[in-house]
Amino acid sequence: MAAAKEAAGPSSGRAVLVTGGAGYIGSHAVLQLLTAGFRVVVVDSLANSSEIALRRVRALAGDHARNLVFHKVDIREKDGLEKVFASARFDAVIHFAGLKAVGESVQKPLLYYDHNVVGTINLLEIMAAHGCKKLVFSSSAAVYGSPKNSPCTEDFPLIPHNPYGRTKLMAEEICRDIYHSDPEWSIILLRYFNPVGAHPSGYVGEDPCGTPNNLMPFVQQIAVGRRPSLTIFGNNYATKDGTGVRDYIHVVDLAEGHLFALRKLFESSSNIGCEAYNLGTGKGTSVLEIVNAFEKASGKKIPLVMGQRRPGDAEILFSSPAKAERELHWKAKYGITEMCRDLWNWASKHPYGYAASESPKLNGSSR
Ligand code: NAD
Ligand code: UFG
Repeated sequence: MAAAKEAAGPSSGRAVLVTGGAGYIGSHAVLQLLTAGFRVVVVDSLANSSEIALRRVRALAGDHARNLVFHKVDIREKDGLEKVFASARFDAVIHFAGLKAVGESVQKPLLYYDHNVVGTINLLEIMAAHGCKKLVFSSSAAVYGSPKNSPCTEDFPLIPHNPYGRTKLMAEEICRDIYHSDPEWSIILLRYFNPVGAHPSGYVGEDPCGTPNNLMPFVQQIAVGRRPSLTIFGNNYATKDGTGVRDYIHVVDLAEGHLFALRKLFESSSNIGCEAYNLGTGKGTSVLEIVNAFEKASGKKIPLVMGQRRPGDAEILFSSPAKAERELHWKAKYGITEMCRDLWNWASKHPYGYAASESPKLNGSSR
């Protein structure tokens, strides 16, 4: 947390609105913001999260907990958002709220455009009306689609493969357009690679509703006995062991990137415009490598089934984080050993996530 304090620097005492702050990445960021001395107002519909996450954040934040306010608001409803902006003045907004399941976005594209694009437009309109023009937006490596080579830099072509990725690209384009229409805006678009892990306390972590969409939440549910096996989506890629390669980043490092982005927004003497930054480690790790690292951290065997490639999956996708290092002065500190250690600490303490009572065993292996 020392780095989070350092990141905040003279920004302490400012008020930040955090949309989606009860979610996986948002809850970790809120804890760091509070510890760094910010006043934080969270709006979240709880569509994919639990208020218990914020109770845990309060407990971990100690005396800073008094600086956290929560409103259950859906950002698609302008009246609710308007009331929040009428109740306080914000120095900046961090916008995490949105839906993130790639497969679901293919089945229900309008739902995704509604949450991720309409919700973002509502937020931007109300921010503008209240003169709050500093924004950190949760974008995604999904905007790159499947680049021909990695490491991927911010100037790579933006060719998302699915509705989810397109919602993120559209929101980015909207941000670029509003900046061009009104240069008082300062906007940082953070393109996250693959977040993994949990707060080292083991009290805050990822608790996906339904079947997990991503690799490590699935692996975690196998380790605690909720699912029988992992299907590896393709072992004939041109990679070190045939399995897909990604850039896994500890959620604590990722959350910290937001504090560095805020510092940039607050400290820049000149307007920074609308800039995109990759948040990743710059290291490519295969599916088998991270599963092995998790087996070591947990002492649990993960039964594997070799399956077909998942349509739309990139073979190799990892970031160049050089721009964030150079301009935001942020750099990921943790590797897959720490990610898997902290993921297991959370999973073993909370095999059923935030749910107070055990759920029945879930059926099936990977989709
Ligand atoms: P999450 O689902 O845990 O958190 C998102 C939060 O937004 C949830 O608490 C949910 O209840 C809330 N929300 C959704 N729609 C809302 C609405 N209309 N109004 C108010 N609240 C709403 O997801 P996360 O992993 O913490 O992701 C946060 C952001 O980062 C998302 O925008 C996501 O697209 C983006 N992102 C995530 C990943 C990833 O792999 N986790 C990768 C790249 C980008
Ligand atoms: N994988 C499996 N079996 C599974 C799940 C995943 O083998 O059951 C493999 C995938 O094929 C891929 C790797 O594990 O090679 C990581 O897959 P994830 O689904 O965890 O992550 P993706 O890289 O496919 O996508 C995620 C998010 C996107 C985001 C992207 C950013 O789902 O929203 O990271 O890089 F855009």
